[in-house]
Amino acid sequence: MKKYIIANWKMSGTSAGIADYIACLTKYLTNKRVENELTVIICAPHVYLSTLKDLTKELSISVGGQDCHTHTKGAFTGETSAEMLADIGCKYVLIGHSERRKYNGEDESILKNKVIMAQNAGLIPILCVGESLVEREQNATLEVLKRQISILDEVKGETLIAYEPDWAIGTGVTPKFNDIQTMCNTIASEYHKLTGKDAYILYGGSVNAENVLDFMQSEDVDGVLVGKASLLPESFGKIIEIGAQAN
Ligand code: 13P
Repeated sequence: MKKYIIANWKMSGTSAGIADYIACLTKYLTNKRVENELTVIICAPHVYLSTLKDLTKELSISVGGQDCHTHTKGAFTGETSAEMLADIGCKYVLIGHSERRKYNGEDESILKNKVIMAQNAGLIPILCVGESLVEREQNATLEVLKRQISILDEVKGETLIAYEPDWAIGTGVTPKFNDIQTMCNTIASEYHKLTGKDAYILYGGSVNAENVLDFMQSEDVDGVLVGKASLLPESFGKIIEIGAQAN
């Protein structure tokens, strides 16, 4: 089964830096196993997506947005619609990243609209889910995940769900590997109960070249969503290289 390796650059990058980054990453992408068995996606800041799309047009890399708005167009200063992302050649969009839930107050009703907008625009949504440390300590993880996944009930096409517990993001701490497998399994079965379909379930949170092999070898984890370790082409390239060998 095809696996995903996704970079989330968050609010990082410069136009000159992106050209250098792609030039360096290219050598990690020429391997046939990467082309045939991995889907590599970069979710960049929206101002750089067109540049990134141009720089990657000959490469096996897809481009994704980091968010989209709940409307197609109109008086929403500073926002980007799913249609605009599709218009410049994006194929994917992250929705509900924990940083957007935390800093932009995005709740399930907002996020459901975003998922529908993404789908209507022909984008594949990558829904980020995961519990906070407090929710974990209160044994509320399953309840939180069910609530977060419930917004996918009307999704028709391909769907990716990234399990990213917010206490593992940027901390260097990951859940125990068995716990990650169990959570990914649980998410897959909750999604199946809800829609009768299968989704790709990824893990994110402090993924790097040292720990990625386990995730890529696991039958329960369909790939990884990488933050910090995707910012340098050498470390993201290494992750891709290891991912290709693991298949
Ligand atoms: P880190 O890999 O930096 O922990 O970030 C994970 C993340 O938030 C990816 O979306």
